[in-house]
Amino acid sequence: MILNTPIDMHLHLREGKILKDVIPYTTNQFAAAVIMPNLIPPVDNREKLESYKAEILENSENFTPLMNLFMREYTEEELLDLSEDIFAIKLYPAGITTNSENGVKSIEAIYPVLEIMQELDIPLSVHGETNGFVLDREREFGAVYKKLAIDFPKLKVIMEHVGTADLLSLLDEYENLYATVTLHHLLLTLDDVAGGMLNPHYFCKPIIKTPKDKMEIQKFVKSGHKKIMFGSDSAPHPIKNKLKGAAGVFSAPVILPALAEFFEGDNETFQKFISDNARENFNLNLPERQVELIEEEWIAPYIVGDIKPMWAGKKFRYKVKNAV
Ligand code: NCD
Ligand code: ZN
Repeated sequence: MILNTPIDMHLHLREGKILKDVIPYTTNQFAAAVIMPNLIPPVDNREKLESYKAEILENSENFTPLMNLFMREYTEEELLDLSEDIFAIKLYPAGITTNSENGVKSIEAIYPVLEIMQELDIPLSVHGETNGFVLDREREFGAVYKKLAIDFPKLKVIMEHVGTADLLSLLDEYENLYATVTLHHLLLTLDDVAGGMLNPHYFCKPIIKTPKDKMEIQKFVKSGHKKIMFGSDSAPHPIKNKLKGAAGVFSAPVILPALAEFFEGDNETFQKFISDNARENFNLNLPERQVELIEEEWIAPYIVGDIKPMWAGKKFRYKVKNAV
């Protein structure tokens, strides 16, 4: 099976050694990825944007990093300067996930930035969680998504890593809302995290939810909904940090083999989810690159550097032709 120009619409690569360890697992499967800016300090100025992009390019080939900026109170002048070099700006509510301490404390405070983004056609990417009860956080954030969609009707808003079925209906209600879905929210439930022995490697924000949420997400994805795009949220943390409670699933190595089994035979919907929807929704003009999957047994790596991948050691029926 050949996939044309697969894109990961939500990826954490980190920097330095971790980046070097994990990046081959993305670049052998994806032609491009949207790179998340939650570094310490965050990617929120031209200098950091350029040095980070250069680090990614030095460590990859035939791969397009689509850079995101970390939301802060940017001026119009700054955004005019940066708009050509970024894909989107990522809004993290303060303190809600990994490295988001300097995130947004009040959405109203960034309304002037959102006005400018709307004018310049810069999409807004959102980590949509309140600080309520952990299983309700995404559903509660639905009200914020609605308000953003109404107050900025020309601003494209991406609901990232949707794990709650309630958010999916917003896609048809508001023209300017889009969603990304991760591999783990598509294929796992809270039982995989905490139903048996605690599995800290599947602990992430937003937390993986109920079988009903999973079924609804699968239904939307299988339906080929145009506004749903694949975004792995692959978020590597060294094992010792995971054992201290760090949130994030490192799914990068297993993505296409797992999705090939999920879509089994429906290559058309697979192609839309992994690339075409994103390219059409955001007019992405990327160099085309074919990625081939072959029907051959493949075992997911047990360890990558100091990081344990999702489904480490699991057998898959499909293998990426140029597997790492
Ligand atoms: C991400 C990370 O580790 O950077 N963690 C996560 O649980 N998803 C941050 C994020 O996207 O929320
Ligand atoms: Zn993320």
